[in-house]
Amino acid sequence: MYLTKNEEKMLEGEEGYAVKKSMEILVALGNIYGAEKLIEVGSVQVAGVSYHNLGDAGLEFLNELAKDGKVKVLTTLNPAGMDLEDWRNLGIDPEFARKQNLVIEAFRKMGILISCTCTPYLIGNLPRYGEHVAWSESSAVTFANSVIGSKTNREGGPSALAAAFVGKTPCYGLHLDENRVPNTHVEVKAELSKFSDWGALGYCVGKQVQNKIPYITGIKDANVDELKTFCASVVTFGSKPLFYMEGITPASEKYQPPEEKIVLEDRDIQEAYEAINDEAEDIDFVCIGCPHASIKEIAKIADMLKDKKISPNTEFWVATSRSMKHLADKRGYTEAIEKAGGKFACDTCMAVAPLKGRFRTVATTSAKGCYYSRHNKMLTKMGSLEECIDAAVKGKWS
Ligand code: F3S
Repeated sequence: MYLTKNEEKMLEGEEGYAVKKSMEILVALGNIYGAEKLIEVGSVQVAGVSYHNLGDAGLEFLNELAKDGKVKVLTTLNPAGMDLEDWRNLGIDPEFARKQNLVIEAFRKMGILISCTCTPYLIGNLPRYGEHVAWSESSAVTFANSVIGSKTNREGGPSALAAAFVGKTPCYGLHLDENRVPNTHVEVKAELSKFSDWGALGYCVGKQVQNKIPYITGIKDANVDELKTFCASVVTFGSKPLFYMEGITPASEKYQPPEEKIVLEDRDIQEAYEAINDEAEDIDFVCIGCPHASIKEIAKIADMLKDKKISPNTEFWVATSRSMKHLADKRGYTEAIEKAGGKFACDTCMAVAPLKGRFRTVATTSAKGCYYSRHNKMLTKMGSLEECIDAAVKGKWS
């Protein structure tokens, strides 16, 4: 890979340890994937924030980099393993909290915005159409590529961090237009009548197209919340963090539907629910906000919980960013949700918090949330917001 004089100096260590290490990572990646050069990125999203996933080895790695590492571009963080302020209320172990705080301190030293959300595009890290960025967190990467129309590979935590210290990333994969051409057509004939149908649709598309880039037709309308849950699901059950949706995503006008075609009907959506949902009746955990809840979703939850009480046998979480919670505080939504017995889980989520062994069955609106909850050994139920609220109130899935 070609390096400018300045990049060579960074690789030799002229700007210190963190930049040298970062250049080593970027050059190795560039050589593996045949990149010709490095390109500037407008922003970075760093995943790998929860101490639950990092452990002591990860914390040590971050502390080394934090000694002299400072990010060169706007850099935001994925969810951590706990609510950074109200972790006790979520039943987090004090020793875990101590370690998680050390992780956050290391990121803070690096100049990273402690945003702790997988929806950076809702809180100010919003790239331009066509802009190169280096994001990790698969749902956000898919949203950036498809819904916003910016360009990013699906970075890992270390490669995203390396891009942040250098301000650049190797130009390969989805940074190149020739690798962004759709190569399979998905016609949706199914009716999407409730919010969780978008997660079910993501399951169907992801499973069927796997590593191809789908051009999706047949969908008349989609709002941001529906698109963000679809993004999370399609990349969890498939692997390519890019799709086009005719008339909805911005770059869809550049292409025609490819020849190869898959048709999805109501029975496919039904089968997705059957695959995602387990046999279970008692619900001891309900979590809404995967990806992190928007203010519109929080408003809806607050409204639906009016005059209701969460079952004493069920824990109810709204996972969201701290910024969104601040808005919710001002508009009275927090008070309404807490009055009903719900809790806010800011800065964290159902997948990265240390939940293994705490709950038996989760109900959620999110297909991705179900996928990761099974990793946490929970039984799963996916349904509409109405069904999840009903389950939280009754402690049962009806
Ligand atoms: Fe976000 Fe966690 Fe879901 S990172 S997409 S809330 S699994």
